[in-house]
Amino acid sequence: MTIGFFDSGIGGLTVLEESMRRLPAQDYVYMADTLHVPYGPKTQEEVRGYVLDAVEAMMGEGIEALVVACNTATSIAVTELRERYDIPIVGMEPAVKPAVEMNRATGKRVLVFATPLTLSMPKYYALVSRVDDEGIVDSLPLPELVLYCEDLQFDKRILEDYFRTKLAEYDLDRYGIVVLGCTHYPYYRNILREVLPPHIEIVDGNAGTIRRLASLLSRYGVMSGRESGQVKLMCTGNDPAYIVKMQNALQWLRDNYS
Ligand code: DGL
Repeated sequence: MTIGFFDSGIGGLTVLEESMRRLPAQDYVYMADTLHVPYGPKTQEEVRGYVLDAVEAMMGEGIEALVVACNTATSIAVTELRERYDIPIVGMEPAVKPAVEMNRATGKRVLVFATPLTLSMPKYYALVSRVDDEGIVDSLPLPELVLYCEDLQFDKRILEDYFRTKLAEYDLDRYGIVVLGCTHYPYYRNILREVLPPHIEIVDGNAGTIRRLASLLSRYGVMSGRESGQVKLMCTGNDPAYIVKMQNALQWLRDNYS
């Protein structure tokens, strides 16, 4: 079957790469909203319109399931997308619940990195209120990281300085887990690993999202059929240079994280 993946830019490729590894025989259509990336600093109304338009364009590609591989887009539009389209739709949210559960025994705190828009949405507030009964979750917006990522800025020194500045006010001994609540952030997992003390675990929602996708697809009975493992990369700006950038990013993820 053909599974659509959507993100504002190259972030969702971190989720697509996971899916291609776990479900290699499916066909994929990936759409990046290059006309409007980054979403994080924009308003809820703006992002809602961008997501609905881009997903409508993806439906024209014959997708039979959709992964909203973007925490920001999910928090704003996943409910409306499910009302509009009669296909399985998997959204993403920061992996706060597993992080809180993993930390219960250690008594350490959880630090969630995400975009400012994700962190300001009622959906995030509701998630934290539901799972964080001991008040151990703190949240840190990292909008610049999306810009670095879209610019393919992977200079170790620049990124280490950036993380150190952002984390300067945190007593990291008190934290046990950092949650990457934006799909652009896993590109920086290795650099972040060197900045954080070794006892802090780094988690993201990618594997959990693809497990959910796989179980949803088998429940809908849509896992079989003609399968060829093709990947079509698209962007709203129709920019051939951006398609090449996505191909390179996907290869980089395969080389570094598979
Ligand atoms: N990758 C996205 C997310 O997971 C959005 C980043 C952005 O466009 O600001 O939240």
